[in-house]
Amino acid sequence: MPVVALIGAQWGDEGKGHLVDLLASKARLVVRYGGGNNAGHTVVNHLGTFKLHLVPSGIFDPATVNVIGPGVVINPEVLLGEIKELEERGISTAKLFISERAHVIMPYHIMLDQLQEDSRGESKIGTTGRGIGPAYADKMSRTGIRIADLLHEETLLTRLRVVLEEKNRVLTRIYNAKPLSLHDTYLRYLDLGHQLSEHITNVHPIIHRAVEKDLPVLLEGAQGALLDVDHGTYPYVTSSPPGAAGACQGAGVGPTQLNSVVGVLKAYTTRVGEGPFPSEIEGPEAAVLRQIGTPWAEIGTTTGRLRRVGWFDAVMARYAAQINGIDTLAITKLDVLDTLPSIKICTAYRLHETQPEYPPATVAVLSQVEPIYEEMPGWQTPTTGVRRFQDLPDAAQAYVARLCQLVGARLGIVSVGPGRDQTIIVSEVL
Ligand code: GDP
Ligand code: IMO
Ligand code: MG
Repeated sequence: MPVVALIGAQWGDEGKGHLVDLLASKARLVVRYGGGNNAGHTVVNHLGTFKLHLVPSGIFDPATVNVIGPGVVINPEVLLGEIKELEERGISTAKLFISERAHVIMPYHIMLDQLQEDSRGESKIGTTGRGIGPAYADKMSRTGIRIADLLHEETLLTRLRVVLEEKNRVLTRIYNAKPLSLHDTYLRYLDLGHQLSEHITNVHPIIHRAVEKDLPVLLEGAQGALLDVDHGTYPYVTSSPPGAAGACQGAGVGPTQLNSVVGVLKAYTTRVGEGPFPSEIEGPEAAVLRQIGTPWAEIGTTTGRLRRVGWFDAVMARYAAQINGIDTLAITKLDVLDTLPSIKICTAYRLHETQPEYPPATVAVLSQVEPIYEEMPGWQTPTTGVRRFQDLPDAAQAYVARLCQLVGARLGIVSVGPGRDQTIIVSEVL
């Protein structure tokens, strides 16, 4: 299966980084296709524990080429910091390539993200404050600065002069914030572009040649299907399309070239930030899911916020599978459920006298749905050491099988711990 998109199928943090690291040795090319440093992908392997925000999680395999695609928004300072840390820890970034078409997150994007959130008050989105929304908005408004612009003095100065004039008006007149200096911003971003220059290229030939030669290519998702700007729980979403269509668009491959879409799902559900979450829970069962005190505790990788937790929501997961054409599932964090005597699955929603088959579009309505639960027995046995599906306790096998049945896709991988080897390959995904 040469071109495979691996996408989050919930509200992010499903364990995408972990699985991309596992699959990277089979892939000749890993392409991060969207989002920015709102993402936090944790990789735990023989080289240590790493939290990646922009660098693709295939970076640990020395033979794999890693690309940051045109659909990503890049904070150059964050990326340089990540490259430096990897190099200091002995990981080569020589085969890391950055698309010259990717957009740059500028200081005013970060300021505006935070100022807009403050001004939203009660209805804040709970963004990561990394400038993602304003950067994508500028891209669509055609006022963005692209990575290629950082390598071209005249273009950068001309574009920045126009853009900064408007941004400074907004910053000073609407938000009473300090304006940014054209001179300083220009010199700073010229220097950042210079520092990244050895990695910057036209990535199209790299991707196109791999696809043409039928080499295994993995498209690494960030965020999750329910944070999709079109299909997610709008306005409590991110500003990009994190799904399979976004993978094609953000990497520059055609939909006909995609051979499989792997949806990564936690065996339960989490969400960071605001927005509706029908199967959310509190109390002692929530504490079990949160796993506070472990390295895989439900605490945001990027912002350190406590993640909200809840039972597996099959209505949302099935919807995510439908809008993305997910054919294969990777179920992660099954081990987190190891101690529970029984486990709930939200199989339907109740809304007044009806049972909507799909998530209602508006927050006001979605916030009113009541989850209808099915309960399955727990297995109360550790699964972290299991490496074959048939060696999982019967109740765990039944639980995973039920999730696949409800979502409507085949099972590819089950993950029972954060380590690279703590995975059960049920069917080959790449
Ligand atoms: P991503 O954003 O989708 O890459 O996911 P994150 O890295 O933000 O969050 C997933 C967290 O769960 C990380 O701490 C991972 O190390 C951890 N993790 C991934 N898979 C498993 C698993 O199967 N079991 C356990 N216990 N932890 C896991
Ligand atoms: P990974 O790739 C979880 C959430 C934020 C917020 C909303 C909008 O690690 O799965 P933004 O800064 O994008 O404008 O915030 O989206 N969000 C994520 N939640 N994992 C992520 O990425 C996320 N990226 C954005 O918490 O609710
Ligand atoms: Mg994450």
